[in-house]
Amino acid sequence: GKNITVQDVDGRLYPSFKPEVIRGVSSLKLRDDDVILCSFPKSGTHWSFEICRLLLNGRLDIDIIPKGYLFADAVPESELNEVNSPRIINTHVRFDRLPSDVKTKKPKIVYIRRNPKDVAVSFYHHTRKMEHYHYDGKFKDYLPLFIGGVAYGSWFDYVLEWETIIANNQELSILELTYEDLKEDPIREIRRVSDFLGVQRNEDFFEGIKDFCNFSTMKGRFKDKMEIKDGHNIFYRKGEVGDWKNWFTVAQNEWFDRIYEKTMTDSKLKFKYTLNQD
Ligand code: A3P
Repeated sequence: GKNITVQDVDGRLYPSFKPEVIRGVSSLKLRDDDVILCSFPKSGTHWSFEICRLLLNGRLDIDIIPKGYLFADAVPESELNEVNSPRIINTHVRFDRLPSDVKTKKPKIVYIRRNPKDVAVSFYHHTRKMEHYHYDGKFKDYLPLFIGGVAYGSWFDYVLEWETIIANNQELSILELTYEDLKEDPIREIRRVSDFLGVQRNEDFFEGIKDFCNFSTMKGRFKDKMEIKDGHNIFYRKGEVGDWKNWFTVAQNEWFDRIYEKTMTDSKLKFKYTLNQD
């Protein structure tokens, strides 16, 4: 259809996961060593999950605990509780709907973001592939929906809120990652994650993770696992910075830039829209 199926849960838009599971995120009981991975959809959640998982794990195993097992927005707490520690609980809910334990336990939070044009393109494909969205529109029809906010609401609201939270909550332990930095220099970023998680791993291991998690290796590794529809692996599409150039027309790009400037006037965030060019 031309409309994207989403639902309102307590005043916010979400995909059609069980409302009680979405609501349950804010009351999840955290363990002391839980890591919380936060992202707007399509910003590199699977990639950063895997990097964290391997760093915590300490060896490159293919005994896969897929990210999906710990996706708090759709997996009930009882199932999250079946997973061994340390867990990497991942969610796309906004900060105020994170587990209330976050304020008291102050777990390590990894927050990854990505430039909004690539997010829009990636989310467009994702929305078409995921059956629960019932969507088969064109990119030109999707873009205004993305800008206005569909599943999980507006990208702008999401990143602006995190910017404020980080600026005003020094006592929280938050690591900011970007998809573009991970692409640009994976080893540097893997080392940052390692330091943040407080694990002692050597440079050879970082090299190992880099290779184990590069796009095609990771895509291949998850090929026969869940998350496949009609032969397409839903979460591994192109894996590049700047694919938006193949989708945005010049007019759409100018339109987007105007909205960006207006919406982000008070923001200090800078995004890379291509690598090695700007
Ligand atoms: P594209 O649709 O642009 O290819 P998320 O995990 O948050 O759903 O994000 C999915 C996006 O990350 C998709 O972007 C996907 O291809 C990309 N991705 C997944 N694994 C990756 C990896 N190992 N390296 C680079 N990009 C990856």
